[in-house]
Amino acid sequence: MIKYLTAVETIKTDNLNGFFVGWPTPPSPDKLLEILQNSYKIVLAIDDSTDNVIGFINAISDKTLSAYIPFLEVLPDYQKQGIGSELVKSMLEELQEFYMIDLCCDIELNEFYRKFNFSHANAQIIKNFQNLLK
Ligand SMILES: CC(C)(COP(=O)(O)OP(=O)(O)OC[C@H]1O[C@@H](n2cnc3c(N)ncnc32)[C@H](O)[C@@H]1OP(=O)(O)O)[C@@H](O)C(=O)NCCC(=O)NCCS
Repeated sequence: MIKYLTAVETIKTDNLNGFFVGWPTPPSPDKLLEILQNSYKIVLAIDDSTDNVIGFINAISDKTLSAYIPFLEVLPDYQKQGIGSELVKSMLEELQEFYMIDLCCDIELNEFYRKFNFSHANAQIIKNFQNLLK
């Protein structure tokens, strides 16, 4: 069964393998734990037969008006079972007091996010790939 958690305290790096699929230099499980610990809100999907995290979403925030969702990922073996949708729904509940909730995604995912009332907007981004190696 999949359970959902909004706290990271019980999670160990051993439970955080396999994420950042397709990234040329994927952040390590240690880095992912740091990301989760430093986020404003997180929702984790956990396979309770292994205690492994199999999906996560995080948000950072100014804690006044705006929140940004940098990451959403479900491990390939667990995709298309509604887990990603559950993570987005739970995160939107966590962030319901904010004026702005922003994220960037590939255009293919526009329809996925539209189901949760996100609308398409223009964005400006910088990616310093060398900082992934630190
Ligand atoms: C996007 C993602 C989190 C969805 O997780 P999931 O658990 O499979 O989501 P759900 O089962 O709730 O919904 C599946 C829906 O995702 C959408 N989807 C996922 N990947 C897609 C893609 N590459 N192109 C188009 N739609 C996609 C589809 O609408 C799909 O609907 P369908 O089942 O009717 O085909 C997952 O595919 C993933 O981790 N992808 C890699 C990382 C990523 O792209 N993250 C988003 C960053 S903004």
